Amino acid sequence: MSLIGLTKGTDLEEKITEMWKAEAIGAATYQAFAIVAQEKGLPELADELKKISADEARHGGLYASLNGHTNENLRDALSSMSIGEISAGEKIKELSNILDKLGLKEAAQAVHTAGEDECRHGEILKELIEKYL
Ligand SMILES: [Fe+2]
Ligand SMILES: [Fe+2]
Repeated sequence: MSLIGLTKGTDLEEKITEMWKAEAIGAATYQAFAIVAQEKGLPELADELKKISADEARHGGLYASLNGHTNENLRDALSSMSIGEISAGEKIKELSNILDKLGLKEAAQAVHTAGEDECRHGEILKELIEKYL
């Protein structure tokens, strides 16, 4: 049986939405702890925290899909995501330029890398659509 939208329109919908958001925030929170651990010279702890973050992201996806916050037309949805990823990537790289001008070189570099990741996601999605959809 499909999980998509099972709790949409039920008494559980609001609770499941709260859980979706909490898991999404949790995923970022653990990634931030991983940065702290890395900066404290604890790369193995950082790796373990990143694994927990991945679990939380997966949980967030489960709750989002239960409430139907997804799209079963993957070709359309992933095409839109591809455009959004590339656009976001360009804006994030502009933000990195501002950070650079403020003299925040390390932050600028890290944010620039995030922007490149988003652009790469957009290109990967295009390839995946062509390959599978
Ligand atoms: Fe979780
Ligand atoms: Fe992305």
